[in-house]
Amino acid sequence: MIAIYPGSFDPITLGHLDIIERGSQLFSQIIVAVLRNPNKTPLFSVQQRLEQIRQSTTHLDNVEVDAFEGLTVEYATRSKAKVLLRGLRAISDFEVELQMAHTNKTLSTEIETVFLATSNEYSFLSSSVVKEIARFGGSINHLVPPHVALDTYKCFTHNQTVSNPIRTDTTEVNPLNSSPSNREM
Ligand code: PNS
Repeated sequence: MIAIYPGSFDPITLGHLDIIERGSQLFSQIIVAVLRNPNKTPLFSVQQRLEQIRQSTTHLDNVEVDAFEGLTVEYATRSKAKVLLRGLRAISDFEVELQMAHTNKTLSTEIETVFLATSNEYSFLSSSVVKEIARFGGSINHLVPPHVALDTYKCFTHNQTVSNPIRTDTTEVNPLNSSPSNREM
């Protein structure tokens, strides 16, 4: 059974990746579908987000990455998917997600929404949190894949020095100068 995992992914976080990895064990195929949303001004272009997600999911054979516009259920129908996969972090998500699931059900009775509870360690995590931390010079190395951290730092820091709270010493780290191997993920 094919499942669509739709979202903005601006950018993909380790929380999203957790849902993709767990979803890939449950469904024969997962299509991570990035919404082209003309009403939002994203940090990353759709093309950049597709590339970030592709790089993050190379270890998963049954995961595809695509972009779509319009209604998610229509994209799902075109893709022969029966399931919309969504992660649930907290009660606050539940209200919005339930409304979305009910709305989608009125648009297509064929497609079911399946929720996966986000792993505890990512229950606070969102793309917005990642962008806010990076904007103010904090470390996001523990929140997103390494290449995404680098892309995000490039957007915000422009060679500004960022202190890394995971390090136990007081050394300041410039994420643009540090290789993935010596940054804490
Ligand atoms: O990552 P996000 O921003 O929470 O994802 C929201 C998304 C893309 C899943 C949702 O906004 C969506 O499905 N938009 C497409 C338009 C649509 O189908 N609307 C009807 C359901 S409310």
